[in-house]
Amino acid sequence: MTDRPHRDFLAIPDFSTLELTKLFDLAERMRRGEYTSKPIAGKTLAMIFMKASTRTRVSFEVGTYQLGGHALFLSPRDVQLGRGEPIADTARVLSRYVDGIMIRTFAHAEVEELARYADVPVINGLTDLVHPCQVLADLLTVRQTFGSIEGRKIAWIGDGNNMANSWINAAFRLGFELALACPEGYEPNADLLERARAHAKITLTRDPREAVTGAHVVNTDVWASMGQEEEQTKRERDFTGYTVDESLMQRASSDAIFLHCLPAHRGEEVAAEVIDGPRSKVWDEAENRLHVQKAIMAVLMGGEKLT
Ligand code: CP
Ligand code: NVA
Repeated sequence: MTDRPHRDFLAIPDFSTLELTKLFDLAERMRRGEYTSKPIAGKTLAMIFMKASTRTRVSFEVGTYQLGGHALFLSPRDVQLGRGEPIADTARVLSRYVDGIMIRTFAHAEVEELARYADVPVINGLTDLVHPCQVLADLLTVRQTFGSIEGRKIAWIGDGNNMANSWINAAFRLGFELALACPEGYEPNADLLERARAHAKITLTRDPREAVTGAHVVNTDVWASMGQEEEQTKRERDFTGYTVDESLMQRASSDAIFLHCLPAHRGEEVAAEVIDGPRSKVWDEAENRLHVQKAIMAVLMGGEKLT
């Protein structure tokens, strides 16, 4: 281990409020095609995927290439981590070859351990606890739609999962109003919620109609996340009444947008009429993964400043 001259991105609060604003400015320049630098030319990103992915894998790989670098896709079938090689050893070895590591895995503690032993920046591409790159992309979409995040009410309907926890972390840093509706037993992480409540108006209810009332952004996600597939039937029962459909959307602000990190299950957490309807911004949201992650890599691996 070194004295860590670099920084990681494991969760949204790893950036300060000011840094997040600057990061969105940089990502927005990238989105508009105004940023053409190659700050990671000659550098390599290792991408460890212990779970499946479409968006995260492709957007990181394409983003690395667009910034002048190269990305390596590593699945548990390919690397010894899948056969029990310790995370600490993997971190130390990869650090001798690559300039950054992105990881998607189960336990958040594994990502923290990887970061502790790596001598290069580590980026969280989703854990059971949080999905920070996704919520930054969602926030960029809110900015793109409304001009700013300030003064917007965000509603979260459904599972208090990694996405809900990252929205709570975002409210902690950015101070917007967040209304969550989750069934009993599916609440978000209590510690993250408590920390954020000192900095933002956050409500937790069982009633989706209450949460969406007046919201500018209505968000949901699958009822069974990766690794919870065997709970699907029980969850379908427990989440009855939590489908985001047109009648629920009508309680939101007249200019409200719908977001979903994808993949989506039409007819479960969201009705097709909503995700495929005029208020849905899910394709912009998916595109914005590319822009925010490029901004993160340019800062962590390429020397871009957030000042
Ligand atoms: N939203 C998201 O992270 O998608 P993937 O699982 O396809 O990467
Ligand atoms: N909550 C979902 C998000 C997928 C991008 C999961 O963890 O599977």
